[in-house]
Amino acid sequence: MRNRVASFLLVLVSAFILAAHPSGAQSKELPKPFDLIQWNGGKFIYGVDYYPEHWNEAQWESDAKMMQAAGINFVRLAEFAWVKMEPVEGKFDFAWLDRALKVLNAHGIKAVLGTPTGSPPAWLYAKYPDIAAMDENGVRYRYGSRRNYCLHSPNFIAATQRIVTAMAEHYRNHPGVLGWQTDNELGDPLCYDAYCRAAFHKWCRAQYKSLTALNKAWGTIFWGHTYLTWSEIPLPWNTLGKAHNPSLALDHRRFHSAATHDYLKLQVDILRKIAPTQAITHNDMGMYDGVDYSVLNEPLDFVAWDNYPMFGGDYSNYFGVGLAHDLMRGSKDNQSFMVMEQQGGLPGWSIFWGRQAAPGLFRAWSYQGVAHGADGICYFRWRTSRYGTEQYWQGILDQDSYANARYQIVSQTGKELAQLTELLHGSKIVAPVALLVSPDSRWAFHIQPLVKDFDYNRQLGLYYAAFRRAGINADVVFPQSDLSGYKIIVAPSLFVVDKPLVEKLAAFVKNGGTLVLSYRTGVKDEHNVVTDQTLPGPLAEMAGIAIHDFDPQTNQEQELVDVEGERHPARVWFDVLTPTTAQVLATYGKGYYAGQAAITINNFGNGAVVYVGTELASAASSSKLINFLAQGKISVGPSLPEGLEFAVREKQGKQIFFLINYTEKAQTVTLDRGYQNALTGETEPAEVQLPAFDVRVLTTP
Ligand code: GAL
Repeated sequence: MRNRVASFLLVLVSAFILAAHPSGAQSKELPKPFDLIQWNGGKFIYGVDYYPEHWNEAQWESDAKMMQAAGINFVRLAEFAWVKMEPVEGKFDFAWLDRALKVLNAHGIKAVLGTPTGSPPAWLYAKYPDIAAMDENGVRYRYGSRRNYCLHSPNFIAATQRIVTAMAEHYRNHPGVLGWQTDNELGDPLCYDAYCRAAFHKWCRAQYKSLTALNKAWGTIFWGHTYLTWSEIPLPWNTLGKAHNPSLALDHRRFHSAATHDYLKLQVDILRKIAPTQAITHNDMGMYDGVDYSVLNEPLDFVAWDNYPMFGGDYSNYFGVGLAHDLMRGSKDNQSFMVMEQQGGLPGWSIFWGRQAAPGLFRAWSYQGVAHGADGICYFRWRTSRYGTEQYWQGILDQDSYANARYQIVSQTGKELAQLTELLHGSKIVAPVALLVSPDSRWAFHIQPLVKDFDYNRQLGLYYAAFRRAGINADVVFPQSDLSGYKIIVAPSLFVVDKPLVEKLAAFVKNGGTLVLSYRTGVKDEHNVVTDQTLPGPLAEMAGIAIHDFDPQTNQEQELVDVEGERHPARVWFDVLTPTTAQVLATYGKGYYAGQAAITINNFGNGAVVYVGTELASAASSSKLINFLAQGKISVGPSLPEGLEFAVREKQGKQIFFLINYTEKAQTVTLDRGYQNALTGETEPAEVQLPAFDVRVLTTP
């Protein structure tokens, strides 16, 4: 009898435990490869960045209700609440966050918690002044703002370990906590204090093993900068004319990127050990290049990023936003990712930064993320702050909580994404072409920007936009990526190259790929030292050209004449190409080198290398080139009017088409036939009418 009572009690107790942990999340392994929708219990992640600590506790319940009504099932919490969680060194208070989670969870809303290290408390700076970073003039940042700590300060590392450990221990079994965001937008600032200098010396030792090797690699004989002891090596701080050795400066960027990775990893290791069933991410910044995201994101379960398409008031750069999504996806093997901060209103700090976006654009931008592979959208922020620096940075709601037009459109989008979840789940972006991003080249161009008007990201953007105008999905790859599946790879201004990359590109072309290179390619070796080979250096043979002259653009106009006699404006830089085995596609139209080659194509193995010696200044020109290269190799999308994007996700042979109109006028696209509208289930006519700012999701049967 006693045994029967005991087992009855056991059943009751375990039933209670199950009820208390309805998701059973604690016993579950993390999905591999990471699947965001599965992680969120089968729901498309639809969320807001919420700061319960900024509002009266009495408001939490009505907030959660309003969120739930808008289809919100996810929040990010606490990433700036260090002082509230550790008000005094070593004393923790999570009671307020527990209560906030309880309210949110009761409305079906789960959370990721931000480790709050992006904004350390004032008491920490007061007690340990050396946690503040030092600028290049040797001045420590003073308290205020955020993100101004030194990555190598032992006091800051200890404080990080303490708060991350305490949070992980408190929340590791919380059924409403899905996982973690480490810090916030890691990257800046570069710190020039003694800790960082010593760490740089250690990094240099690990890279070069001997000072002889370092001196040789950096060419320190120039200006007699040869180092006899490691401790003599300076940081590239603000010297006269900022004239530091470019090799030292590039290694310093690499070092900072690696140190940022190590700091993130320090947090990841603590979280993994204590809370192994909770997933970990970080909020990256798209095209930001202070760190190499393809390395930074390696310890994470999935990538998340912060997307503000209207930065500076410009709505028109929707292809630039698409490129950022694709770079983020590419930074972790094209796995599914999420947007952790999606623009939810008009940005601004002390002033508003632009025009207000039409409500429909907020929906269009969310769909753009989905069309580029995002399986989660989280808006920054739920409600505009009443306090602090971001009083003018709008959330979905304004301070008065009125259910405004942004709230209405966010609610509509939430309902639609819930309806599309089954279709989207497991679908992927498949791209026949890729843009190669070289973090080393980007840094080297920061160190020596070439000419005033050079912009590496603009080079990427112009080819990327040409693909998108042709309705072709594009991936972003990095030097260590597998290139074998692509038909065309564009590697614009591939300034810094090492032997493995050259060999990889040669193999890609020999196997039938088309490689597009552009001006200032192959100029530097991996130490940022100029090659002594004829340009484009180690890529000259495969490009079938030699460059014996170039002309940096300074207030001059240039144009190209293609083989059909069509003229194209060009800018920034002009490499004068001498074909060795290549054929000429276009020549220069002006100047002392008029008539000499500007664009060439060379057959190499089973593929071809195109070299563009300049920056094509018009969309028509880059489109003409890309369409010519795609012909017969890649099926292009429908003919698209300006302001309209076409993108495809695929799932077991089924295609999901996204048509997004970013303009304030109605647009029409003609497809090859009628497809099914994924939301209404109806078959649409081949001619699709898209009202202003509208979106259409269509599928093949
Ligand atoms: C992001 C940041 C947020 C918020 C937002 C608006 O970059 O991660 O915390 O500051 O910008 O300024």
